[in-house]
Amino acid sequence: MSILKTANLTKRFGKFTALEGVDLEVNEGEIYGFIGPNGAGKSTTIRILLGVLKATEGSAHIFGKDAWKDAVDIHKRIAYVPGDVNLWPNLTGGEVIDLFLNLRGNDNKKMRDELIERFDLDPTKKCRTYSKGNRQKVALISAFSSNVDLYILDEPTSGLDPLMERVFQNCVMDAKKAGKSVLLSSHILSEVEKLCDRVGIIRQGQIIETGTLNELRHLTRTNFVVQTEEPIKGLKDLSGVHGIEVKGQTSSFQVDTEYINQVIKFLSQFEIEKLESTPPTLEDLFMRHYEGTNESGRTGAGGAS
Ligand SMILES: Nc1ncnc2c1ncn2[C@@H]1O[C@H](COP(=O)(O)OP(=O)(O)OP(=O)(O)O)[C@@H](O)[C@H]1O
Ligand SMILES: [Mg+2]
Repeated sequence: MSILKTANLTKRFGKFTALEGVDLEVNEGEIYGFIGPNGAGKSTTIRILLGVLKATEGSAHIFGKDAWKDAVDIHKRIAYVPGDVNLWPNLTGGEVIDLFLNLRGNDNKKMRDELIERFDLDPTKKCRTYSKGNRQKVALISAFSSNVDLYILDEPTSGLDPLMERVFQNCVMDAKKAGKSVLLSSHILSEVEKLCDRVGIIRQGQIIETGTLNELRHLTRTNFVVQTEEPIKGLKDLSGVHGIEVKGQTSSFQVDTEYINQVIKFLSQFEIEKLESTPPTLEDLFMRHYEGTNESGRTGAGGAS
């Protein structure tokens, strides 16, 4: 069942088109990774979902309700963490966490205490003294101690150290175990790779790819490293083979998924001594999509405020 759905979501700021026909769907119990380069439109999409920005065209629904008109209702069942958390400077971290929890009215005090412990936060300090990472922790603790159905996280781990990054990942996995759904926008691809059931890649305001990691990998190439007794002749003439590098008896290259079988048959005639193949990482996949992208290709770019 779908928890969150946008259809043909379009947002223009004056002449500048920030989002163009974005279709996004997060199902119940799913962790959805929302990735894309800087300025691609992730935060804009999220602001529309939160009812902070009004879409120019198209629709955005959460729990079947309209993100703009029914924002108040929707907010009772979602928790949001931005990448740049601002807090009231004169309240302590603990006070802010309780404030958020009381606002939502569905808090879990035991969970709060446990998370303060896990995130190693001193809740007695005034927010003005917190570092960037500590401010993120305050928002994460209040989000994950709220008993909500959907977590909307926009680069939530910016500024967290690797230890805390792991605590965050555990929180997301616990939420999933409890049947919750998560929309996670992130630049940390290992985080997305580890956590997300499905991924959507946005570029210049348009979704260019969606699917499970396996489905996305299928569209890409597998890395091969082969050592043969005899030098491999004719590799570069083979279909589906890219990026060949040869060092002595060892050749490395990438193969399009549909040509793997053919390539292995070909290689076997050269007496294979060693063969390694690794699927592309999300980063490989990303780089291929990101290559040659910049803001200047965008509709109406330059007219942006
Ligand atoms: N209020 C606004 N007025 C004009 N342009 C805006 C406004 N908000 C966002 N934009 C533009 O819309 C585009 C998308 O921005 P957005 O913040 O959604 O990107 P993002 O994918 O979240 O990027 P990042 O990874 O850097 O956070 C950018 O080019 C940005 O400059
Ligand atoms: Mg953003």
